[in-house]
Amino acid sequence: MKKRIAVLPGDGIGREVTAESVKVLECIASAYGHEFVFEEAQIGHEAIEATGNPLPDTTLDLLHRSDAILFGAVGHPKYDNDPTLKVRPEQGLLRMRKELGLYANIRPVKLFDALLHASAIKPEILKGADILFFRELTGDVYFGEKGRKDNNSTAYDLMIYSQQEVERIAHMAFRAARTRKGKVTSVDKANVLESSRLWREVVQRVGHDYPDVELEHLFVDAAAMKLIQSPRNFDVVLTGNLFGDILTDEASQIAGSMGMLASASVGDRKGLYEPIHGSAHDITGKGVANPLASILSTALMLDISFGLKDEADTVVRAVEMTLEEGYRTADIADRHTPAEKILGTAQMGSKVVASITKVATEV
Ligand code: IPM
Ligand code: MN
Repeated sequence: MKKRIAVLPGDGIGREVTAESVKVLECIASAYGHEFVFEEAQIGHEAIEATGNPLPDTTLDLLHRSDAILFGAVGHPKYDNDPTLKVRPEQGLLRMRKELGLYANIRPVKLFDALLHASAIKPEILKGADILFFRELTGDVYFGEKGRKDNNSTAYDLMIYSQQEVERIAHMAFRAARTRKGKVTSVDKANVLESSRLWREVVQRVGHDYPDVELEHLFVDAAAMKLIQSPRNFDVVLTGNLFGDILTDEASQIAGSMGMLASASVGDRKGLYEPIHGSAHDITGKGVANPLASILSTALMLDISFGLKDEADTVVRAVEMTLEEGYRTADIADRHTPAEKILGTAQMGSKVVASITKVATEV
């Protein structure tokens, strides 16, 4: 199979982790006889520096020409410390999601057994947790009207959802639940917000088409609490853009670290594959970032965009083997990990590549 993959490393550790994913995809291509053609483009802070635009037209052109997109991260402390700047790296990512119609962000939260002791949460609470988040990605306060008034002394961001926006992602979540434990937990704030009352109404209606799937509704505050208290009670979680952003950072602790959580942003056409973590400038350039979130995103790409299920399973199995052999990046090391097993970004990527070669030759 021949595929064109757009590579957007972006800012901070985005470049370091994405390089490891390219290594992994190259290894998969040679092990299974595929041809992946990589083409790189700019986004975020680096694109602003080069062109003044966080999503230049040349990047957009490349996205339209590609079969799938591998994305790293965007962001820079310069903008975080100066909220008055009008052109911002994040705008590149948000515009890309909107332009490509990527309305569903799928974030699997699953703990590898080898990492049972890497999490701050007790192992007996965590063991067996397996959650699939569907975060709506092109609506909500992220894209509602925003602005300033009263002489710049008041600011607003409109929380807004249409019936159609809720319906399409709800169907995706219910369909996914059918292939899993058969439960959808929809998260909103319907006791306060009108947009959440519409959300709940639509989800209930869509739910009637899936009588075999159990539907539960939670308010976002309670969901935040229950995720940590009893993560095993969740199967598929369906929620809006802002709540989903916050809850999935929280849920990353169930998988041990932000450095472990992959995601797929999909719509009706091509997919974008991105780790959920950001640019992490505090560790940029040190070669210590965990590449596994990005590497696990390539497994989602192989499966969802290319339909290469065996290849996707091989990547996940290779990550699992590498962890079983005791290798860790600093973020997932625990007090039982000996110093010689703590690897940098590129070393971890190479270990996974070596494991892929082993798994692929076993079958
Ligand atoms: C994420 C990120 C982005 C978001 C930022 C960088 C705009 O936090 O992908 O979760 O809020 O969606
Ligand atoms: Mn986020």
